[in-house]
Amino acid sequence: MTTTHGRYHEVYARWKADPIGFWAEAARQIDWIKPAEKVFDPTSGPYGRWFTGALCNTCYNAVDRHVQGRGGQAAIIYDSPVTGTKRTISYAELQQEVATLAAVLQDMGVAKGDRVVLYMPMIPEAAIGMLACARIGAIHSVVFGGFAPKELATRIDDATPKVILSASCGVEGSRIIPYKPLLDEAITLSTAKPEACLIIQRPQGECSLVEGRDRDWKDEVAKAKASGRKAECVPVAATDPLYVLYTSGTTGKPKGVVRDNGGHMVALKWTMDHFFGVQPGEVFWAASDVGWVVGHSYIVYGPLLHGATAILYEGKPVGTPDAGAYWRVIAEHGVVTLFTAPTAFRAIKKEDPNAELLKGHDLSRFRALFLAGERADPDTVQWAERILKVPVIDHWWQTETGWPVAGNPMGLGLLPVKYGSPTVPMPGYVLEVVDEGGKPVPANTMGSIVIRLPLPPGCLPTLWHADERFRQSYLDPFPGTYNTSDAGYLDEDGYVWVMGRTDDIINVAGHRLSTGGMEEVLASHPAVAECAVIGIKDSLKGEVPCGFVVLKSGVTKKAADVEAELVALVREKIGPVAAFRLAVTVARLPKTRSGKILRGTMKKIADGDEWSMPATIDDPVILEEIGDVLRNRGVAS
Ligand code: COA
Ligand code: AMP
Repeated sequence: MTTTHGRYHEVYARWKADPIGFWAEAARQIDWIKPAEKVFDPTSGPYGRWFTGALCNTCYNAVDRHVQGRGGQAAIIYDSPVTGTKRTISYAELQQEVATLAAVLQDMGVAKGDRVVLYMPMIPEAAIGMLACARIGAIHSVVFGGFAPKELATRIDDATPKVILSASCGVEGSRIIPYKPLLDEAITLSTAKPEACLIIQRPQGECSLVEGRDRDWKDEVAKAKASGRKAECVPVAATDPLYVLYTSGTTGKPKGVVRDNGGHMVALKWTMDHFFGVQPGEVFWAASDVGWVVGHSYIVYGPLLHGATAILYEGKPVGTPDAGAYWRVIAEHGVVTLFTAPTAFRAIKKEDPNAELLKGHDLSRFRALFLAGERADPDTVQWAERILKVPVIDHWWQTETGWPVAGNPMGLGLLPVKYGSPTVPMPGYVLEVVDEGGKPVPANTMGSIVIRLPLPPGCLPTLWHADERFRQSYLDPFPGTYNTSDAGYLDEDGYVWVMGRTDDIINVAGHRLSTGGMEEVLASHPAVAECAVIGIKDSLKGEVPCGFVVLKSGVTKKAADVEAELVALVREKIGPVAAFRLAVTVARLPKTRSGKILRGTMKKIADGDEWSMPATIDDPVILEEIGDVLRNRGVAS
């Protein structure tokens, strides 16, 4: 692949020499109601806050300010092969829709600082709902549709929303998934009850409404339109939260990642041009879901803040209708940049290894593919390069950071590619790799990857109502830094290699899940004495969970029946997104003499990787037993 040496080193050095000046300059791309008194205030928040004293509105910058000049341009193109629907919404129409829905929310009593939970499929109303909250200074919290009622209830209890926005159903491939019964159950389970719910009735499957609580979205919007009601943009502090997005922590209790208004706009706007190399007016497609951070940053806010056109795709990479779906969307809408998870490309490659379905699609405007969310395996990257003949860019970030920590910056000129590495840190981030004692390790040595404080604009300033948990999780492990909980190394050229997590988070099809949360569910089964969940290699989803359980003595139920119940229980409590399909009964779990379960060694056995007998093991025979059980299940070789 040809590469050019661009401006990356110069820009990174400029940022490092004067971070305040760098972000002050980037902030000029945003319209402020009142400019910041301080670009960065190290005295507020757990590690400081960006753009303190400034007033702004994210919806204004994402929608209203484009109406003059690009009012007729498509802001959002909704493409839904699963419902056979396409809809183009111009910036002028988007302003109308958002301002109307914002007025409906105000009529329902939602005001600045109130929380609004969204439990929505991939329909334009999801983005309109998020922007309507931003418009009136309400804080949205989107919950991914693949989560079960109990997970939704946990998030409702933490966010205590005044109103919930939802839909009658989602469409997953050829299946209709009723969302409303899941929402009703979640509200029954939760302690914090919303005052009202606004429900979109989808023609694919309507639902009943709870009298006195639920309102019909389309009726309310129609009434507001008839009376000409529209909400103006409400000024908020740059440091006020725009949203809270829950992500998996090490326990079953998810972490509420807070995103502010000011720093978030500055960072995302900067990335659209300098990182993704996209210009206003161009078509940008993040094939993810609004329930994930990628959806927040690059389906909704990034492209719209930049005056680009965002694609909102309701479908899968394969099966809707086939593995050529992505090529059809790119060609039809003139997409210049696609961003998705490697797993999507593994799915396409599996179905159509020779990319026959690419033939006949005009991809002449397509410039780059960006992959993130999980480790991009070199095979998949090289396959995508071969078939698409454009740069394929692995980049690394987290829900917490909100935008790429490291990558190959298309907008600054690409650096040479090293397959398996997401290249170099972006301006804003100084990466270090440290040992268990927090001491930096030499190049090419594995350790914990940390980011020097302060984090740049756009990264989480704290966790929702949990400053102490924020400090304990991220700042205390290695003082002066933010702990990414990723393990890896920096090489002699400063490229970062992200090899895996240091905690019990796993990545299943690009979806972040907690094995600790799954263990809590397994342990709640009356027949289970002990359990351990690990992520094992999967050729499609990257990793899938595998649960090992020891049954209580005296349990007479067949092991296979308990295993089937456990699979059903995880689906019921966490949701289908957990993709938990393998529960394995074992006689005992391998432990160290101090009682710690040897999850790492079990993973190596399951993955068929080389492993050595840990010196501290209590009883070496147990590992052989585990290997035998897995071989019998066809898991380990
Ligand atoms: N609402 C309800 N259910 C959902 C859902 C949603 N929004 N999203 C997923 N699910 C369900 C799926 O239907 C599936 O259910 P099943 O067990 O009944 O089949 C389950 O959750 C697991 O979903 P997923 O892991 O996505 O598997 P899949 O087999 O449906 O699709 C891929 C596999 C690879 C095609 C898909 O995961 C994909 O496109 N991933 C890449 C893009 C992406 O979204 N990345 C995330 C962050 S960038
Ligand atoms: P999420 O918060 O869902 O975005 O997941 C973040 C985690 O996904 C990171 O901490 C990494 O473990 C993993 N991840 C994301 N992108 C990459 C990448 N490009 N390479 C390796 N791991 C990645």
